[in-house]
Amino acid sequence: MKKAYVKSYGCQMNAYDAARMADVLGAEGFSATDSVEEADVVVLNTCHIREKAAEKVYSELGRLRVLKGERKARGLDTRIVVAGCVAQAEGAEIQARQPAVDVVVGPQSYHRLPELLARSRERRVVDTEFPVEDKFDHLPARRGLGASAFLTVQEGCDKFCAFCVVPYTRGAEVSRPVAAVLAEAGKLAAGGVREVTLIGQNVNAYHGAGADGAATGLADLVRAVAAIPGIARIRYTTSHPNDFDDALVRAHAEVPALMPYLHLPVQSGSDRILAAMNRRHTADAYRRLIDQVRAARPDIALSSDFIVGFPGETDADFAETLRLVRDIGFESAFSFKYSPRPGTPAAERADGVPESVMSARLAELQGLLDARRHAYQRAAVGQVFDVLVEKRGRHPGQVAGKTPHLLAVQFDAPAHHIGQVVPVRITEAGANSLFGALLPEAAAA
Ligand code: SAH
Ligand code: SF4
Ligand code: F3S
Repeated sequence: MKKAYVKSYGCQMNAYDAARMADVLGAEGFSATDSVEEADVVVLNTCHIREKAAEKVYSELGRLRVLKGERKARGLDTRIVVAGCVAQAEGAEIQARQPAVDVVVGPQSYHRLPELLARSRERRVVDTEFPVEDKFDHLPARRGLGASAFLTVQEGCDKFCAFCVVPYTRGAEVSRPVAAVLAEAGKLAAGGVREVTLIGQNVNAYHGAGADGAATGLADLVRAVAAIPGIARIRYTTSHPNDFDDALVRAHAEVPALMPYLHLPVQSGSDRILAAMNRRHTADAYRRLIDQVRAARPDIALSSDFIVGFPGETDADFAETLRLVRDIGFESAFSFKYSPRPGTPAAERADGVPESVMSARLAELQGLLDARRHAYQRAAVGQVFDVLVEKRGRHPGQVAGKTPHLLAVQFDAPAHHIGQVVPVRITEAGANSLFGALLPEAAAA
């Protein structure tokens, strides 16, 4: 049997696309492998968001070229596919830099992978079109489902934050129709999925056509997915502060299946920098929004994204970011050094922040964020949470799952609990994961 190795970088949208590419190859008779050495097709699903992410692809491709040569010497063919956002952004340049690449395919064309692979036997192929047909209508059934699954409901971005490549690599905002989302969610539920994470670059800008053709918002979509039998939990990511409407705030108060966790990127606490970033909201507007969300769901765990060292960022601007972090107290967060990206307005600016200053600011911000995250994890010890069991744990006899607040928990329990929501008392907070004990009544069941 032919084998396919698919590796994904970047965001959840890419993780979803990678899973769907594996489905496409699966329908063509490829079995999935974790071992790149034995793969007949290797897919790198790339990310262009920061320079490091994009450059990593080329070092990986260098290794794949060698591997391809070794396999060829043994009479084995290897097709190398570059997919995702670097593929979209750089197209044929990728093959100019690394001729071993057979296929370059963008995020909107990967349903054509079988045809592209076939064509690549004659000559190298590039497909970075935004085709008129909808890839979702051409994808085979999903395979290899676990207890939790991503579901893309919206793609693209029209926000054009001054630092960001996504509007260029993913194109304009498009929402899938409600019926298409519900059909996919229904199949996921039938396949044993208990938790669905609705994903999009700006998922709360979702405005898919409903049955009557009228635009439906994310809050109503969440309610409709919650009504599907078998779906116990719903999450969504990533949202933008400006698209957060009252209906979505209310959904957090009213829909029990909507989990108390919110990733809401803010990037900076300085109004001057937020304006320069073209975020189009102030730090106080963000604070007020968080107040509303917390009023609706007091135990909600908050997460965010931060960029330090955006061009022109002063010590005073950075102090505003630290103040925002202290005011809000994020339970988790991602923070990055600003990375200039080709084609974005911010990359043209001459007032870049020196690398050493960026490093110092990143360390200070991460110190603050980590302290809060660790305190939050320690506060979980002694509490009982409903845990969705997703897989076997790191040690034999253990399983691993997530609390409603998206904390990872490991505990002793037989594997038949995978796919169930069970009560677990947290006993210990480790570096990256909590440890717990299944409550006796659940263990007996
Ligand atoms: N659509 C989401 C996230 C997009 S990318 C949103 O609107 O927030 C994920 C994160 O990467 C961003 O939130 C931002 O913090 C970071 N990021 C994006 N471009 C970057 C750049 N040029 N340099 C550093 N970090 C960046
Ligand atoms: Fe990028 Fe901004 Fe769009 Fe998020 S909202 S994807 S950061 S342009
Ligand atoms: Fe990266 Fe593309 Fe996602 S640039 S973060 S993979 S949308």
